[in-house]
Amino acid sequence: MKRESEGRDYSRHPLYLTMHRFWHPVAYATDVGEQPMQVTLLDQNIVLARIRGEVVALADRCAHRGAALSVGMVVEGTFECPYHGWRYDKAGRCVKIPARNELLDAMKPRIPAFHACESAGIVWVCLDPEPKFPVPDFPEYSDPTFRLLQGPVYDWETSAPRRLENFVDFSHFAFVHDGSIGSRLRPEVDTVKPWREGHVLRFERPPTKEPSVGEKRKMLGIEGEDWISVANSYRVMMPHAVHLRRTFENGKHYVLMMAASPISAVKTRSFWWIARDFGVEPEHDAFMLQFERTVLEQDKPVIESQQPKLAPLVGEEVRLELPVGGADAVSLAYRRWYTELIRENASAPETAGTV
Ligand code: FES
Ligand SMILES: [Fe+2]
Repeated sequence: MKRESEGRDYSRHPLYLTMHRFWHPVAYATDVGEQPMQVTLLDQNIVLARIRGEVVALADRCAHRGAALSVGMVVEGTFECPYHGWRYDKAGRCVKIPARNELLDAMKPRIPAFHACESAGIVWVCLDPEPKFPVPDFPEYSDPTFRLLQGPVYDWETSAPRRLENFVDFSHFAFVHDGSIGSRLRPEVDTVKPWREGHVLRFERPPTKEPSVGEKRKMLGIEGEDWISVANSYRVMMPHAVHLRRTFENGKHYVLMMAASPISAVKTRSFWWIARDFGVEPEHDAFMLQFERTVLEQDKPVIESQQPKLAPLVGEEVRLELPVGGADAVSLAYRRWYTELIRENASAPETAGTV
């Protein structure tokens, strides 16, 4: 299978290959039922379904004549191919060839099965037999004091590392989000010092003033201020998920959880949740979602304009960009870590990601 974009074939690119080592989000858990569905991760088509309550992920291609199992159905706890009725169990073993079942033992057909699990309302898949890091966590998901909102997925024509970096880049707020979460009047940013904890890159932004939007201020019970003070605590769960916990001056919290999924080297689907412990009445939901969507709409054209789309993390490509000391401290720490993961993957005895 050839993976092309911008005239480039990324199939052997070290960054693309390294991405195969991790858990990635592929669907919201509530969207996965007993009817098979297709998702795509790193150019691999995957059929997902819930079989006896458990989410199962197989390569979405029948070994017989290549039909997609996602067009078929689940029968007696197996995926049944829509074309000639071959059936596959959750390990990807063919357990029935209706036209000549006596040949099953001799032929032993099989298709790849992938690790799949559910966490924080999301189905995660890892294409590698040994996931490098744990599945990202989202503590507020099961905290009853928070109201949860599931954001509609959005696809951007960019790579997952670029999408992640955009989320943790503060110096774009003043320009891309002037009047919403930033202001051209305050373009300078504080320097943060990221540190690593397990598979997480953490950093804290001390309380910063940002423009206050009327309805959010009302929900928070903070009256009459044009600027509102908020402290931000970030956890980047390597490589493409981020949990941001914001604490307002009255101690209330607003949490954003975003997990980016590399559909291909240069196309990314983002899954996201909002959690809040103030203004928890459902009538505020539409406003909260709309606010975030406005912010995302502001980001999209700028991020999709970045060249090259696959973040330049390795080799000569690194020289294509000019980071700013201090202001880009987070993306520098992120790239440093990602580069280590790429090197580690390249030197592994059997390079992961050959699908
Ligand atoms: S293509 Fe699947 S059973 Fe024939
Ligand atoms: Fe942004």
